[in-house]
Amino acid sequence: MKTTAELAAEQAAYWKGPGGDGWLAAYDRIQRSLADIGDIGLAAAAPRHGEHVIDIGCGTGGTTMALAHAVGIAGHVLGVDISETLVEAARAHRLENATFVVGDAATHPFKAETYDLVFSRFGVMFFADPVAAFRNIRRALKPAGRLVFVAWRTPQENPWGTVPARAAQPFLPPLPRPGPDDPGQFSFGDRARIERILSEAGFQKLRLEPIDRPIWMGPSVADVLAGAGRFGPLARAFAGAEPAAIEKAKQAIAQALAPHEGPDGVRLPGACWLVEANAS
Ligand SMILES: C[S@@+](CC[C@H](N)C(=O)[O-])C[C@H]1O[C@@H](n2cnc3c(N)ncnc32)[C@H](O)[C@@H]1O
Repeated sequence: MKTTAELAAEQAAYWKGPGGDGWLAAYDRIQRSLADIGDIGLAAAAPRHGEHVIDIGCGTGGTTMALAHAVGIAGHVLGVDISETLVEAARAHRLENATFVVGDAATHPFKAETYDLVFSRFGVMFFADPVAAFRNIRRALKPAGRLVFVAWRTPQENPWGTVPARAAQPFLPPLPRPGPDDPGQFSFGDRARIERILSEAGFQKLRLEPIDRPIWMGPSVADVLAGAGRFGPLARAFAGAEPAAIEKAKQAIAQALAPHEGPDGVRLPGACWLVEANAS
């Protein structure tokens, strides 16, 4: 079993390297896939004029921009991300009322009791010690502050992630299976786990709402295949495979995705939690 320090180092290396690069390269498509779930999160967060906000794991700053627009020049948004590549892309928006820092949100020395809102779109599932990370985040909130984030539910409820991976699996070297408490994309699938983490971190009045939405994966199966393996678990599996095996894996993915292709592109079911909590 890996230690917390090893898991944290692994996540940091991934997002500072291939994870961040892949996210940036695929961002236009990712943004189309995630925009409506992000909008549900932003609507629940309801950022108000003049508020001070943190965007955790802000990536290229798409949600930071929406938050900055809502709080206006009287407010401020701090975008935090561990990937220098993504923070650089976020800074290119040149937002007047937002600052971006490269840092680990689990340990970043946020100014205490300063923020009204902590928001994240899929940026909080990668902490090796999530209780310690959320304690650190909670310290940054004013006593009346609130936390709002969206996170994926279980892999079983997210065929957009599992259908291509399962189809490709027989042709690719096996990937290490994360343990139930290991950080990763689906690590917040279990409602009881999120409730335990946030309660232990000191958050109050937890509200979890399931959100089910088809996830747009690309305009056509051919297009999805062209991008397959550039980002996420498939990229890791492709990296260790022979070209002939990758070709077979792609054919299998194409077959598995074909039934999900429609006039508007390829869509598969997706499921996440909208999580809200109060600092006290
Ligand atoms: C799935 S992406 C989401 C990016 C962005 N929120 C969006 O929706 O476009 C996860 C983000 O979390 C960042 N991240 C991962 N671990 C982090 C940590 N410990 N501290 C800060 N950011 C982290 C990654 O670099 C990446 O940008």
